[in-house]
Amino acid sequence: MKITVVGTGYVGLVSGACLADVGNDVLCLDVDPAKIRILEGGGIPIHEPGLLEIVRRNVEAGRLFFTTDVEQAARHGTMQFIAVGTPPDEDGSADLKYVVAAARNIGRHMDGYRVVVNKSTVPVGTGDRVREAIVAELAAREADFPFSVVSNPEFLKEGAAVDDFMRPDRIIVGADDERAIDLMRELYGPFQRNREKMLVMDVRSAELTKYAANAMLATRISFMNELANLAETLGADIELVRQGIGSDPRIGWHFLYPGCGYGGSCFPKDVKALINTGDERGQDLLILNAVEAANEAQKLRLVDKVVARFGEDLSDCHFGLWGLAFKPNTDDMRDAPSRVIVAELLRRGATVAAYDPVAMGEARRIFGDEPRLAYAERPMDVLEGADALIIVTEWKEFRSPDFIQIRQMLRHAVVFDGRNMYEPSVMARVGLEYHGIGRR
Ligand SMILES: NC(=O)c1ccc[n+]([C@@H]2O[C@H](COP(=O)([O-])OP(=O)(O)OC[C@H]3O[C@@H](n4cnc5c(N)ncnc54)[C@H](O)[C@@H]3O)[C@@H](O)[C@H]2O)c1
Repeated sequence: MKITVVGTGYVGLVSGACLADVGNDVLCLDVDPAKIRILEGGGIPIHEPGLLEIVRRNVEAGRLFFTTDVEQAARHGTMQFIAVGTPPDEDGSADLKYVVAAARNIGRHMDGYRVVVNKSTVPVGTGDRVREAIVAELAAREADFPFSVVSNPEFLKEGAAVDDFMRPDRIIVGADDERAIDLMRELYGPFQRNREKMLVMDVRSAELTKYAANAMLATRISFMNELANLAETLGADIELVRQGIGSDPRIGWHFLYPGCGYGGSCFPKDVKALINTGDERGQDLLILNAVEAANEAQKLRLVDKVVARFGEDLSDCHFGLWGLAFKPNTDDMRDAPSRVIVAELLRRGATVAAYDPVAMGEARRIFGDEPRLAYAERPMDVLEGADALIIVTEWKEFRSPDFIQIRQMLRHAVVFDGRNMYEPSVMARVGLEYHGIGRR
């Protein structure tokens, strides 16, 4: 099939590459010429395990192409995937300007039947706005090509995006015409060979399904964080509680890890956007308001612990920090807890030396040339002269460090662990003062 993917970010590039990998002819469009230059030069503009190999393989096979030419893109694919960003607007609602611009470009240049597939996470009703934008552009040039609008929300996880796309749990398709549904079935055939995974529903339900999924997962995290904080005051150990409830099949293990808050490009903005949708409909989403407030507070939890240990004024303190990405295996720092934690430490006068395996370039872009924030090439280097170690992202390489060396290098032998990576008993044995989240 001939496919155009509009937007070559985490979702668009993964989708485009994986769709090419099963034999389709895919053209990826982006308005950012710098991204297209990197792709045309044989690289990829993001860190995503396994993606570079797939991109290279399909470029070499002549199935995957990149462009900044909107006309060429609109004319290429019968299937036009929209995978552009939907960042939060000032009021928390999803900003649809990129989605509408992408739809307009399609309407302006399409020259035959198109299925416009919305993969971006968008509020209920966006399918109608996409349709209106295309109708308006077609009318402006007195053209009359048929088209269908489909909602096909994406559930991939950064860090495991290729595998998630190749082996999806389910494929949600919101559509109301048979022609488009048949084409979507054909398109996704290669990804559901062992069992039927496609759930067809109306567009609005599909749009809401994506928000419902992220809101549920965010709720589980905030719930556990709140209980972790309570466990601390009760002398209970949240890790034991987690195992005690996770083993109940009605509850399950996923998204129950307490920590220093959720971040990333999806949960924070999608929770906010859903709250906003509720507000627009005169419905106060009580649970999600609490989920959001609990998460904002949780991002400061580690700093609160640092302040309780070292005092309000941290101007004499220097901290080593492990992990800047919002989660392991990605360089994404959008809404990452590390941003709040580093900013708050700096605000209180501290200096920080940080290490992250892949996100330091992104951190440099975000924090600029902040003189009190340094970066180290190796994890142990951040301990040089540091009063304490603060762990914000649970990268695999932090799982089993040399604790004795940590103790010897730190001035105060204190570890603040925002991801509960270590056993308090082990830390006590090696002589490290350990502050986890909800641990006894
Ligand atoms: N990142 C994730 O893990 C994830 C998972 C599921 C769903 N989503 C959703 O998918 C959407 C995209 O997310 P992302 O993380 O890939 O975003 P991103 O910011 O990484 O990429 C978006 C890309 O779209 C490009 N773009 C913007 N307007 C354009 C236009 N008119 N024409 C062509 N390109 C244009 C931008 O330059 C950018 O490269 C969002 O709605 C997001 O909520 C993201």
